[in-house]
Amino acid sequence: MKSKYFMSSIKDQKKSAEKIFTKARANPVEVTHDEYHSLVDWVHQLDYNYHTLDKPLVSDKEYDDFFSALKDIELKHPKWLMVSSPTHRVGGAVLPVFTKGTHRMPMLSLANSYDPEDLVDFDQRIQNFLKMDSSFEYFAEPKFDGLSMELIYENGILVKALTRGDGVTGEDVTVNVKTIKSIPLRLNTKKPPELLEVRGEVLITKEDFKSLNEFQEKEGLPTFANPRNAAAGSIRQLDSKITASRPLKFFGYNLGEYKGITFLSQSDVYEKFKDLGVPTYIQAARVCENIQAVVEYYKELELTKSKLPFDIDGLVVKINSIKTQEELGMVAKSPRWATAAKFKPDTAETVVEEIFCQVGRTGAITPVALMTPVKVGGVTVTYATLHNQEEIDRKDIRVGDTVVIQRAGDVIPEIVKSIAEKRDKKSKPYKLPTHCPACNSELHEHPDEAVIRCLNSECPAILKESLKHFASRRAMNIEKMGNRWIETFVDSNLVKSFVDFYGLKKSDLLNLDRQGEKSADNILKSIEQSKKTTLARFIYALGIRYIGETTAKHLADHFLNVDRFVDAQEDELMKVPEIGEKVAQSVLTWLSIKSNRNQVKALIAAGISVAEAKVNTSGPLSGISFLITGTLPIARDKAQAQIQENGGKLLSGVSSKLNFLVVGDEPGSKLDKATNLGVTVIDWNEVLKMIENRP
Ligand code: IVH
Repeated sequence: MKSKYFMSSIKDQKKSAEKIFTKARANPVEVTHDEYHSLVDWVHQLDYNYHTLDKPLVSDKEYDDFFSALKDIELKHPKWLMVSSPTHRVGGAVLPVFTKGTHRMPMLSLANSYDPEDLVDFDQRIQNFLKMDSSFEYFAEPKFDGLSMELIYENGILVKALTRGDGVTGEDVTVNVKTIKSIPLRLNTKKPPELLEVRGEVLITKEDFKSLNEFQEKEGLPTFANPRNAAAGSIRQLDSKITASRPLKFFGYNLGEYKGITFLSQSDVYEKFKDLGVPTYIQAARVCENIQAVVEYYKELELTKSKLPFDIDGLVVKINSIKTQEELGMVAKSPRWATAAKFKPDTAETVVEEIFCQVGRTGAITPVALMTPVKVGGVTVTYATLHNQEEIDRKDIRVGDTVVIQRAGDVIPEIVKSIAEKRDKKSKPYKLPTHCPACNSELHEHPDEAVIRCLNSECPAILKESLKHFASRRAMNIEKMGNRWIETFVDSNLVKSFVDFYGLKKSDLLNLDRQGEKSADNILKSIEQSKKTTLARFIYALGIRYIGETTAKHLADHFLNVDRFVDAQEDELMKVPEIGEKVAQSVLTWLSIKSNRNQVKALIAAGISVAEAKVNTSGPLSGISFLITGTLPIARDKAQAQIQENGGKLLSGVSSKLNFLVVGDEPGSKLDKATNLGVTVIDWNEVLKMIENRP
């Protein structure tokens, strides 16, 4: 009965939200304040159902429509903008620094141990303190390995988010935290408490971490060592748009101060959080009737923890009753009523047989330890990166050393330390080579970086890596060209540059060891197929520093063909979206090297045909950028489509790169900004004239 009523009420809400949406589409000025509020309510409802209940109410497209209607309304009625509006989720604010904020109640730390038997002592201490002689009911939950965070809700609205900091004062990261989709900007209740401080952890799941690093790599950006670092780094971004793009999650597990709400137990905290829309990870939490049950749960979780979607480093054990917690209070900087039982990380001992250096595509030298294979946490480990000289010195790792290696969660194994007592007396500290292991040219250290590089443009190791990148799936996509083949081609001198791929003959391949006719045909066929490509792929394939897939696409959209790209000048490059000084310089340096330009010419001569970028180059608006503000005589999406269909480009913000700001009724702040920057301001009629007048 209840659920039927609930369903119909959702239906009604959807219907009225659709009405407001239609009205906003036609003219957001007409929307009333009450309607704006209802739309905010509706989008909150959609967020809650999607992110917390995992039961979306509408399609992604519908959601985007409601969301953009909300944004349009707020643009027209800036005074209405609510601090809890879902539109804050997209980020945008760029802070100069984070301000500090003091916690109303200090954020403590937990006493911890690696031995589950210590839990029994913990229980005994509590019994003694309270002069009792039986165990207590406990609440046991995962010890999340992320970044602790305090969310402050005043009258149900998220007003502030603070990092733990030193426990007394943290950093105000509110704008960034608001971009985390599962965090409610408003508590899901009609009668919100006056104050509720929710404490919990921001983290990244193992799966999201993998995709994030793949993305970073593809874009030529630094990768993260582990999910914890990735989460911490994402929260500490001054540009909240970057945070918004990171797959952060939040799980609540503790209270700060609160007023106007009561909690009986830690299980009650989890339940109330859930009701209020605050995410928890109840799946891995358990009420244990006494400390023995906690010890059993610890052992159980240690065996099953790898199945959890995120890394955990132990179990947090709390006295379940809040009243008893209050009686117990704290000792030093930790509560007396809680403790952490950590899991021992999987470690093993092995011997470093050799340290060798890898040369990357950009010439960066990475030292790697080759070890006697050993099993750690179920996988056999043979290699571990040593990062750089600083890291090697810090841990003093030498060839022949017996070392402890550790694998925490799904993270890449690392050498934790060297066992000095087992060291051969004659061993010497390891020093990185001064010359490239592949070409023997002198290595250089950049003052701003912890890496040393080989700068020889003909270094065979760099060549191999560059060729692997060139042939890779997202670049030229030479499907059958595996890395082993590339190494063989370089070693046998058959391929010395990109263009040599296209001169390979069947006889060349058949002359190579173990090369069957069929596989030779396959390789040649995939080389042939790769000739048809796009400008974006082609630019990306060249492997210019800082030019990842996205930047390559922007360059392609701007320059449209290879010739124009090769002749790019600084001022033109600076007009390309998302390209700043550093990236522009990198492209210019690359293009200024004659052999690089010749390489491009040779590739085109070898038959590579680069489709013109997707932008409509023949359209009357080609090469011209536009941005719309205010209400136009036609719907905004239609106007945007018309600009693009005629070859125009749409920018997302006002900058000196913008050619025309198209202004409708009641323009937003973009108009002031454009006027200040001297950007030409036109109306929709003038756009139509530009479309009609030009051939
Ligand atoms: S409750 C007195 N519960 O562990 C602190 N903390 O060493 C009570 N942590 O900074 C915190 N998972 O970041 C609690 N399920 C959990 C936790 C947890 C991880 C972290 C938290 C805190 C640190 C304390």
